Amino acid sequence: MEKREELYAGKAKSVFRTDDPERFVLVFRDDTSAFDGEKKEQLNRKGMVNNRFNAFIMDKLEAAGVPTHHEGLLSATESLVKKLDMIPVECVVRNVSAGSLCRRLGVEEGLELNPPTYELFLKNDALHDPMVNESLAVSFNWATEAELTRMKELTYKVNGVLKNLFDEAGMLLVDYKLEFGRSGDEIVLGDEFSPDGCRIWDKETRKKMDKDRFRQGLGNVIETYEEVGRRIGINFD
Ligand code: C5P
Repeated sequence: MEKREELYAGKAKSVFRTDDPERFVLVFRDDTSAFDGEKKEQLNRKGMVNNRFNAFIMDKLEAAGVPTHHEGLLSATESLVKKLDMIPVECVVRNVSAGSLCRRLGVEEGLELNPPTYELFLKNDALHDPMVNESLAVSFNWATEAELTRMKELTYKVNGVLKNLFDEAGMLLVDYKLEFGRSGDEIVLGDEFSPDGCRIWDKETRKKMDKDRFRQGLGNVIETYEEVGRRIGINFD
């Protein structure tokens, strides 16, 4: 496999073509951004930590029957992935209230949500990722009803696997965002799962162990990502 030209550079990752038209290289960079790119910083080792974290989680999900685009690690900061036709809708599950849910509904942070909530957001930086619903997604042809049903089913399946994984390691999976794409007739999990795209708290102390450390200027961002990883069994050496 040969890495070719850069196809797309996102805020924290870049996608490169390969000599195989069905496979891309995903490069996890140290760039970190929040608030639609308003706050930006380079965090040393973040690319490596998130690449390893994501590979570990994607392997767990694949083993639990969730189809993912992840094919394997290529280097400390690079992974090989399947090419997907991405669906421009983000799927968010919340087990505990935090973030935009609290701002939108005026509820306090830290309420257990049972059953967990499920929300859809349009992936659009210029519009600040507005909340949408299945009706809008179908009418605007972002996805079919069957695709949306499968995305919801897979998003909840991920919740079952990961809530348990973090719980057993003394942590609370507060919420997370997933993105899906099409590979032939199949709906496949794309993008990444890392502390950049979810909220994780220590069960006992409720210490924030995710990107809120960066958003809220709490410090020790990458050291804490590594602590989360080590607790679930990832070796970063
Ligand atoms: O901001 P909000 O509370 O809606 O985010 C819910 C979850 O989805 C958080 O874990 C956040 O990190 C993640 N998210 C994300 N990328 C976005 C929007 C939300 O990773 N564009």
